[in-house]
Amino acid sequence: MVRRPRPAAPELRADPVQARVTAHTRGPLLVVGGPGTGKTTVLVEAVAARIAEGVDPERILVLTFGRRGAAALRDRIEARIAGDPGRIVHEPLVRTFHAYAFGLLRRAAADRGEPAPRLLTGPEQDLIIRELLAVVEDPESADTIGWPEELRPALPTRAFAQQLRDLMQRAAERGVGPIELAGYADRLGRRDWSAAARFLREYVEVLALRDATTRGSVAYDPAELVRAASGLLADEPGLLAAERRRLAFVYVDELAETDPAQLDLLAQVAGGGKPLVAFADPDSSIFGFRGADPGGIATFPERFRTVSGGPAETITLHTNYRAAPALLTAASGVARRMRGPITHRLMFPPAPLDPPAPLDPPAPLDPPAPLDPPAPL
Ligand SMILES: Nc1ncnc2c1ncn2[C@@H]1O[C@H](COP(=O)(O)OP(=O)(O)O)[C@@H](O)[C@H]1O
Ligand SMILES: [Mg+2]
Repeated sequence: MVRRPRPAAPELRADPVQARVTAHTRGPLLVVGGPGTGKTTVLVEAVAARIAEGVDPERILVLTFGRRGAAALRDRIEARIAGDPGRIVHEPLVRTFHAYAFGLLRRAAADRGEPAPRLLTGPEQDLIIRELLAVVEDPESADTIGWPEELRPALPTRAFAQQLRDLMQRAAERGVGPIELAGYADRLGRRDWSAAARFLREYVEVLALRDATTRGSVAYDPAELVRAASGLLADEPGLLAAERRRLAFVYVDELAETDPAQLDLLAQVAGGGKPLVAFADPDSSIFGFRGADPGGIATFPERFRTVSGGPAETITLHTNYRAAPALLTAASGVARRMRGPITHRLMFPPAPLDPPAPLDPPAPLDPPAPLDPPAPL
């Protein structure tokens, strides 16, 4: 396939707040801003600045949400650094968390001389779930799950297996294991979740057994990929140390879309004061219903600390380069009447002549909201 030539990235107006973000090279930094405030643009500028400073692009990791998001970001970075001689040989790694996790697992397998791991497909997962449902509901079987009576007729159906897979995937994304899921079930009086929690334990055990006994490649459930990579790094300190040494700079776009498992992986490879810049629009979590935890933003400064132990700095972008001024006035009016922290919702059009007034320090973000339990089956 031939790639269409990309138009050169447009010249940017000097925005001092954005420039501070671009220049940041030490320790963690959280950048908060509404849509159109230039978060992704600044990320691209920062990556370009590091490469211009002589950093090996392969030592720059850029993580973002969704395959499409990663492809678009890769294109923007490529367009921005076109002409830089360094990029001909090396390019920064732009990955989704899943792809990055999978890459870690693949590299570890290669190091051990094992066959490359692969992903279980949705239908393969459904098949395992349906087989397991049939076994554990066999009245002869010692360890029946005890599904509520009203769900029994649904158990053999494909739709039920799919919904169960969906629930288990959301639980995995939140780092909710069988024990936590059972806890939610008890607290909320959900007998279907209690059963699902027992099922989840069986499923995880079956997958582990499969992994151990398969002579060929290990097949991962996509929902467990990020956790599996975290577990690998936790089990093999040498591997973790090598990865941390390899990464000079880590950038994360769309932080609001990350789930707890992804944040844990990020903390492993980019915690402890490593240069890390994360960009977030706290209102954007469009995939929240799938289990993303926008609370990761509120806890970021506490969790990602500087080498000396202080919380990460937060910079808020207020200038909106995308929307028309009239729309911004209306939007800010609405924002003032919305619940929750509003600092990041106040946005202004670019100033035509004067440099923007110095900004107030951003207000502290709300404490993280408690996790929503996964949706009912
Ligand atoms: N300093 C700037 N000067 C001019 N245009 C800018 C500047 N910063 C961002 N933009 C433009 O604003 C638009 C939105 O930027 P983007 O980075 O996608 O915002 P976000 O990621 O915050 O939604 C883009 O068209 C970008 O080129
Ligand atoms: Mg963006």
